[in-house]
Amino acid sequence: MTSGTSGNNKRVELGDLATMKKAGQPITMVTAYDAPTARLVDQAGVDTILVGDSLSNVVLGYEDTVPVTLDEMIHHIKAVRRGTKRVFVIGDMPFGSYNGSTDQAVANATRILKEGRVAAVKLEGGGPMADKVRAIVEAGVPVCGHLGLTPQTASMQGGYRVQGRSAKAARQMVEDAMALQEAGAFMLVLEMVPKRLAEFISAKLQIPVIGIGAGNGCDGQVLVIHDLLGVDPNFHPKFLKRYADLGQVIHKAVGEYCTEVRARKFPNEEHSFHMPDEIWKALQGELGEDSED
Ligand code: KIV
Repeated sequence: MTSGTSGNNKRVELGDLATMKKAGQPITMVTAYDAPTARLVDQAGVDTILVGDSLSNVVLGYEDTVPVTLDEMIHHIKAVRRGTKRVFVIGDMPFGSYNGSTDQAVANATRILKEGRVAAVKLEGGGPMADKVRAIVEAGVPVCGHLGLTPQTASMQGGYRVQGRSAKAARQMVEDAMALQEAGAFMLVLEMVPKRLAEFISAKLQIPVIGIGAGNGCDGQVLVIHDLLGVDPNFHPKFLKRYADLGQVIHKAVGEYCTEVRARKFPNEEHSFHMPDEIWKALQGELGEDSED
């Protein structure tokens, strides 16, 4: 693969993403939560990894993104960072880690960057978050915004549904996007937004806009890696395209393993360690056992 930033081995930088926007070159982003997956994603040539707070429900088994803690996020962010060499890594700020004071937001964003060694953090919310974004950026931590469906506060948005459908709501989203850019955000994620609105916002902003469920007019796309790989066969929102059926692959492979263990077909000779006859005989002598074997 040679497109995007995958052509060379140096770490993707913020400036590379800005250059891609200017050049009209789509930016690829996927989520990852552990080192081996991050390594594969990095080697596959993706431009950016988001260690999303989707960690909460996708990996840790919580009901939604709200319960995951900052410590849990940092634990997984560090693993992802260790698994990568080239890709630009963004760490999500979990619910409750930036919703209080600006000082709290700056301290926690700094922790993610310092302990997780990420290139940037992401947080959800529009205009009301602008002051926090500005303060975090001024503290030296690049910030990616997130508008449209914001899962941490989805209950206040009437559930997991497309946002910005009315002219008033769409206008608010445009204003929020402008406010985040003005506050210093270097990138914006738009989730579950009508295609033409996302395209309009992408064209209006100078910073790259990454879509999920926002059509192909954005400057890039993001998907949750488990969704892209088809780990959960029961999850099929309209915006998702599955590029593999990993759920079925895992089911089949583990089933075959169980069948072979139960039939004593695994491990066979090929997967066993062998002891030379003379050692075996010496052991018999040591044990005082006279075996024919
Ligand atoms: O947490 C996450 O995975 C996200 C993406 C869906 C954008 O925020």
